Amino acid sequence: MGKRLPASVGVVGPPGAAALPPQARLLFLTSGTRISHVLHAVTALGVADHLADGPLPPGEIAAAAGCDADALARLLRAAAAVGLVERLDDGRYTLTDLSELLRSDVPGGLRDAVLYAGHAMTVRPYGDLAETVRTGEPAFDRVFGMPFYEYGKADPAAGRLMNSAMRHLSSATSATLLDACDLHRFERVADVGGGTGRFLTEVLRRSPAAKGVLVDQPAVVEQARLTLARTEEARRMTFVGADFFERVPAGCDAYVLKSVLHNWGDADAARVLRCVREAIGVDADARLFVFEQVLGAPNTWDNGAFMDIDMMLKFGGRVRDLAEWRRLLGEAGFAPANEPRPGSWTVQVWRPC
Ligand SMILES: C[S@@+](CC[C@H](N)C(=O)[O-])C[C@H]1O[C@@H](n2cnc3c(N)ncnc32)[C@H](O)[C@@H]1O
Repeated sequence: MGKRLPASVGVVGPPGAAALPPQARLLFLTSGTRISHVLHAVTALGVADHLADGPLPPGEIAAAAGCDADALARLLRAAAAVGLVERLDDGRYTLTDLSELLRSDVPGGLRDAVLYAGHAMTVRPYGDLAETVRTGEPAFDRVFGMPFYEYGKADPAAGRLMNSAMRHLSSATSATLLDACDLHRFERVADVGGGTGRFLTEVLRRSPAAKGVLVDQPAVVEQARLTLARTEEARRMTFVGADFFERVPAGCDAYVLKSVLHNWGDADAARVLRCVREAIGVDADARLFVFEQVLGAPNTWDNGAFMDIDMMLKFGGRVRDLAEWRRLLGEAGFAPANEPRPGSWTVQVWRPC
C-alpha cells in the first residue's frame, strides 16, 4: 500500500471523503468529467434563464427548454448533487449562487466561460492527453487538423465564443489584478493580445486622462470595436489589428500582456516579448505588465497546474514558475521590477534593461 496523501493536498471528494478508503477516493476523481458535462448541459440548455423568475417544476423547465421531461429531471437531480441547482420540498427547482452566474443577463456572469470549457474545442483535445504527453505535441492540431487560433477563424461562432469566454473570465479577475498594481502614472497603455478590450477598458476607467492602444488579430479588434462602441473609454482607444509576432506599436509607456504568454512555448513567447522590447526602445521609464498565473508549491491545490495541461493540449503553451518567468523575460531584455506572489494569478512588473 502506498503512502497516504500529503496533508497539503487536501481531500477531493464528497462530504466525509477523508474517511473513505482509497478505492472510493480514487474513483471519485473519475467524476470530474461527469460533473463538468452536467454543468455544460445545464448551461447550454439555458436552465438558469428559465429559472430566473423563480422556482419551477422540472416538467415546466423541460417544456420551456424544449427537452425530454424525464431526461431533464435526471439532469437536474445530478446538478443538485453538486449545488448547481436546489430541489425544494415541493419538487420544484431553484437557482443557487452558482447557477445565478449562468444567467445570460447578469453582470459578472460566467455563462460563456462555461460553454467554452464544455465546447468540443476544449473537450476533444482532452481525449488525446496521453498522446500529447507521449509526443510533447499539442492534441488540438491532431484532433482538428489546424492550430487553435486558425480554428477560431475557420469557425466564426467558435471564434466568437472563445473571445466572449475570455471577456467573461477577464472581468472576473481584472479588478483584483488592477487593485494590485498602480498604472496611474502611465499616459499611453498598450494591451497586446488584449482580446475584445474588457481589461483595457477597466485600465482606462481607472485612469481618466490615459490613452489606450488595443492590439490583437484584425477580426478580434473588429469585434472589440463593435462591442465597445460608444463607451467613453473606446473614444480614448486606438484599435490596431496586428500580428504580435511581427510588430507591436511603439510610443506607449506601459505595455500589458494578460493571459497571452501562457498560450505559447518559450520560443514563440520570446518572439512576442522581443517585439514588445523593440517597441519600448530606449524609454527606460516604460514598464511591461505581465498578468498571468505563477505556479505554486508542489503537493498543493494549484489551478495553474491544471491550466498548464490546457495550454499544453491546445497550444503547446505552458504556465510557468517564477524561475521560468525570470529566464524568459531576462533573455528578452527585461529585469524584474516587483516581487510577484507564486501560486495564483498575479501581476509581474518588468523594466527594460
Ligand atoms: C487567451 S487570449 C487573452 C485575451 C485578453 N488579454 C484577456 O486577458 O482576456 C489571447 C489573445 O491573443 C490573441 N492573439 C493570438 N495570436 C495573436 C497574434 N499572432 N497576434 C495578435 N494577437 C494574437 C488572441 O486573439 C486572443 O485575444
